[in-house]
Amino acid sequence: MKKLLIYSFILSSFLFASQDVLTLDKVKEVAFQATSELNSELKKELKEAKKSGKTKEMTSFCIDESAKLIEKIDKKYGSKVSIKRVSLNNRNEKSKAQENEINILKAFDLIQKSDAYQSKQIVQIVDDNTYKVYSPIEMKSRDCKKCHGLENKVDKDSKKRFSEVYKNNRGYGYKSGEIRGAVVITISK
Ligand code: HEC
Repeated sequence: MKKLLIYSFILSSFLFASQDVLTLDKVKEVAFQATSELNSELKKELKEAKKSGKTKEMTSFCIDESAKLIEKIDKKYGSKVSIKRVSLNNRNEKSKAQENEINILKAFDLIQKSDAYQSKQIVQIVDDNTYKVYSPIEMKSRDCKKCHGLENKVDKDSKKRFSEVYKNNRGYGYKSGEIRGAVVITISK
């Protein structure tokens, strides 16, 4: 009986602990889901704004709604998962790359410039309890260039609004296929 009790104690503590374990596969899976959801929601809403045929509508979506949409998805995934976009050339201060994020963004850039296959995910160990999963954001569609392409080719009114809202002159100068930034999913135990 005593033995049985010890066994069941060991078993239950094992089960309890195993629920707490965050495997690399799990981390990647959750990050993949969150990133896909973010990308497809942004794409959908931008497409919706584009239907009006006016650049102004798209600009308003990017300025007024895109960050809110990211926050909404971030909330949905709970307190152990955080979702954001980062860039080395950010308009929104919230998208400024932190120190440990800069090298990964540079790595995405180097891979792209070396004509190598881009990783869909890079997992960074932050500490014993925290991982960051990065997915590159590419200049995939022509729409991106409307607002992130060469500065002299961007619509004047949009440019004016960007500089008023963000108080900087960043986020321009990208060509098709280049890396504009990354989605970063931070996952903790
Ligand atoms: C109509 C203009 C517009 C279009 C089109 C657009 N963006 Fe943006 N983009 C913005 C604005 C404005 C921000 C800042 C949004 C915010 O406040 O978070 C931004 C932010 C970003 C960021 C976060 C970094 C930062 O600068 O704050 C990334 C990454 C990004 N855009 C990628 C893209 C990609 C990729 C495409 C094409 C699919 C695209 N954008 C299309 C206007 C645009």
